[in-house]
Amino acid sequence: MKKLVGLIGYPVSHSMSPEMQNAAFQKSGLPFFYEKYEVHPDRLEEAVNDLRTKGFAGWNVTIPHKQAIMPFLDEISEGARKIGAVNTVVNEHGKLVGYNTDGAGFVKGLMRHVHFPIEHANVLIIGAGGASRAVAYALAQAGPKSIVITNRTMEKARDIHNECLRKQDSVMGLEEAEASLSVFQIVINTTSIGMKNDGSTPMDLSLLVPGTVLSDIIYNPFKTVFLQEGEERGAVIDNGVAMLVLQGALAFEKWTGVQPDVELMEKIVLEKLG
Ligand code: ATR
Repeated sequence: MKKLVGLIGYPVSHSMSPEMQNAAFQKSGLPFFYEKYEVHPDRLEEAVNDLRTKGFAGWNVTIPHKQAIMPFLDEISEGARKIGAVNTVVNEHGKLVGYNTDGAGFVKGLMRHVHFPIEHANVLIIGAGGASRAVAYALAQAGPKSIVITNRTMEKARDIHNECLRKQDSVMGLEEAEASLSVFQIVINTTSIGMKNDGSTPMDLSLLVPGTVLSDIIYNPFKTVFLQEGEERGAVIDNGVAMLVLQGALAFEKWTGVQPDVELMEKIVLEKLG
């Protein structure tokens, strides 16, 4: 009998996870099947109980349930607690444990482009929403020399600094960050600016140094204006595809104990994105 996993969110119709995960299950010969479930926020607790009763091996969680699901689980990992959001639930012998693989997935993807010791890197994170929090927490675990976080609303950046970063890390205003761009070897956009493809970018890149790793967690558009401008200035660019694929690969590993074929997962996502 197939072991069931899936995705709950509202909406979920756009998700590429079923194709990506089912292809990887099939490739590794594991008897798992991934299905998406649209769950209205009013029905979240009921849905969690239903998945528990049906013996699901686990599931992914997306907007708007990443925070709201936490009280309905039996245990929350330290990372998910610090990030304040769960994107992966694992049924560990009847106990529902909430994890967050978004940040770790992002860092794994980023590291494909970092060909120097991460301990030497000064990193700039732009944005202080939920995605930023996951990225900041996981990056701090990777141990760069420093992480600076900047955002339109500075209070939110300070909260992430206090809750997810380390003593040597700091916050900086956007203008100061723009003026200090040359000190960063890695610059990451976690804001939603660029998603609408209306020409807006989160930061002026005039002072960007060629060779800087410039990352955007957005994957649609495939190359945001931010990445286009960075590429023109000689940056090494990294879009959000790897984060999408690798957060899924880490969830796969947690459910099955086996590493999936990441290249296959990435190929499927790239095909879907056209
Ligand atoms: P998510 O959970 O996907 O990260 P979010 O919590 O809404 O989404 O966070 C969006 C991020 O994009 C925030 O850093 C937000 O800045 P504020 O904290 O100041 O709101 C940033 N953002 C979105 N639209 C923006 C805009 N037009 N100008 C500047 N920052 C913007």
